[in-house]
Amino acid sequence: MTFRITILCENSVGPIAGTLGEHGFAALIEPSAGDPILFDTGQGATLLHNARRMNKKLSPLAGVVVSHGHYDHAGGLLPLLQECGTQTVYAHPAIFNPRYRVKDTGECLAIGMPHGRDVLESAGARFDLSPEFREIAPGIFLTGEVPRATSFELGDQGLYRDCTGQEVDTTPEDQSLIVATDKGLVLLMGCCHAGLVNTLEHMAYTMGRRDVFAVIGGTHLGFCGQEQLDMTISALRAWGIKKVAASHCTGFAASARLSREMPKEFQVAHVGYTLEI
Ligand SMILES: [Fe+2]
Ligand SMILES: [Fe+2]
Repeated sequence: MTFRITILCENSVGPIAGTLGEHGFAALIEPSAGDPILFDTGQGATLLHNARRMNKKLSPLAGVVVSHGHYDHAGGLLPLLQECGTQTVYAHPAIFNPRYRVKDTGECLAIGMPHGRDVLESAGARFDLSPEFREIAPGIFLTGEVPRATSFELGDQGLYRDCTGQEVDTTPEDQSLIVATDKGLVLLMGCCHAGLVNTLEHMAYTMGRRDVFAVIGGTHLGFCGQEQLDMTISALRAWGIKKVAASHCTGFAASARLSREMPKEFQVAHVGYTLEI
């Protein structure tokens, strides 16, 4: 079996006429046999538009994955349901928890799911919620909840479960998608709030193999300290990963560093980026 992975929503766009960027992430996984899986949905302003521009059909789908309950990954779910009808939605049960970013100034931004479970179910969402590692289609797996094992992946320190900034939100539901290919494993990340190294280790443990061909998507390295970036680059080298296609919450500074340190492996996974494997 072969797979084509295409970025549909991301902060920036590649040279495909008419596509649009938004802070967010969505990717389509098209297997050589069977219907595609949509991993994340962006904020909701660009998913359907960009899919149309790229001649990607979002119906029928074998399922939709919501990696975690942030608006920039889950916001496109309602427009997708309204356009394409009933969908199985794979996620962790904690995606509906309230979530906030509290800035240093004290300003509080709600960043959780923009639509409630009842609204989404009325529009045709059939939620299949589990915190466990599982196979959702042939060769396509979800990591489930990722153990936070490394000492240097401290998570985003600006995320809270309340607006007063008392209770830190570790985004425990965050999960990534794994595609098992003949060339190696491909890890597709939404925000990777669990940490890239934690996620790689958990993937290897659950899949029983450590041959990683590519990591694609949001790494959240743009929201971490220098030590975490240093340790992550060392780990990516040690794993022998062939493609590091970073985007979204990786940000310009961390992307520039990755590009400098791993010039052969680094790519920008913006809207239109495609990996055929
Ligand atoms: Fe994000
Ligand atoms: Fe996020």
